[in-house]
Amino acid sequence: MKKFGEGGEFGNSTSIVRSYMEYFGFEKRPFFITPDTEFFFLSNSHREALNHLLYGIHEGMGFVLITGEVGTGKTLLSRYFVENADEKLETALILNPRVSEKELLWLILTDLGHIFSKSYRSLTRVGLLELFNRKLLESYGQGKRVAVIIDEAQDLDDRVLEFLRLLSNLETHKDKLMTIVLLGQPELEKKLKNRNLRQLKQRILVRHRLEPLEKDEIGVYIDHRITLAAPRERPYFDGAALNQLYRYSGGIPRLINAAAELALIAAYIDGQHRVEKRHVARAIDTLEGTDRSRERKSWIRRILRF
Ligand SMILES: Nc1ncnc2c1ncn2[C@@H]1O[C@H](COP(=O)(O)OP(=O)(O)O)[C@@H](O)[C@H]1O
Ligand SMILES: [Mg+2]
Repeated sequence: MKKFGEGGEFGNSTSIVRSYMEYFGFEKRPFFITPDTEFFFLSNSHREALNHLLYGIHEGMGFVLITGEVGTGKTLLSRYFVENADEKLETALILNPRVSEKELLWLILTDLGHIFSKSYRSLTRVGLLELFNRKLLESYGQGKRVAVIIDEAQDLDDRVLEFLRLLSNLETHKDKLMTIVLLGQPELEKKLKNRNLRQLKQRILVRHRLEPLEKDEIGVYIDHRITLAAPRERPYFDGAALNQLYRYSGGIPRLINAAAELALIAAYIDGQHRVEKRHVARAIDTLEGTDRSRERKSWIRRILRF
């Protein structure tokens, strides 16, 4: 039996990925870690999160808050939501919020499709605010709602968070002009408890905590991703393998993906389509570094793009 990363044809990360893909006849990598909306799986918690988003936006709430641990699928959820929004909803998605107030306005306007006639440097914050207000009124006039979605919102500066609260004051005499959706790690909830952000906290009336997958969702999740990767020779995770995956990942999709891909490789190395507990165990050893070989770890990192 060959081992992970052992010289020869398995010594190189690209070739092992290519080989296991060929072995199962995958068209795509089923567990690749980028948040690819094509692979979106509607777990119970993701469904609830989407419902909260839609509710908050359609009821004209100023803010919606969605938190979740790293790897629970916040970024994927935001992309999926934006891609599937109907034409009555205009969205801006900000993925990196380590920006100033002025930069944030500029990014939001750009994402809403605004074409600037002046260079960024010659624009002022007040000028941008005016443009933004005009854009919101224009959308309102066309019967459209606007949602500004901010991922990794725990990284927002307190000053920028307070600025968002002020932005959310933009309204007509009867309607809110937009909903701001904050997505972030659980520490965002803590941050919002700070005294200086209490006014913002009071404005957040819709919130949801994105939970890891439930135990009985894992098998369906794995199947779903495998099906979308269109295998010719379908691999199969047995019950004990799924239990092991759950114990390791606690249901967090990012960890499931990392372990599932390595378990598939381990099954391929053993020349079988059935993925068993020992394959998952080998994957976990490698991820957790209990497998001491430096060389192996480095190719695993290359495969998973750590
Ligand atoms: N509901 C889901 N359906 C399919 N894949 C998911 C789902 N949730 C998370 N994932 C996968 O898990 C990984 C981590 O998701 P990501 O959105 O980056 O998490 P977060 O932003 O919360 O850290 C990605 O590979 C993503 O595709
Ligand atoms: Mg993310």
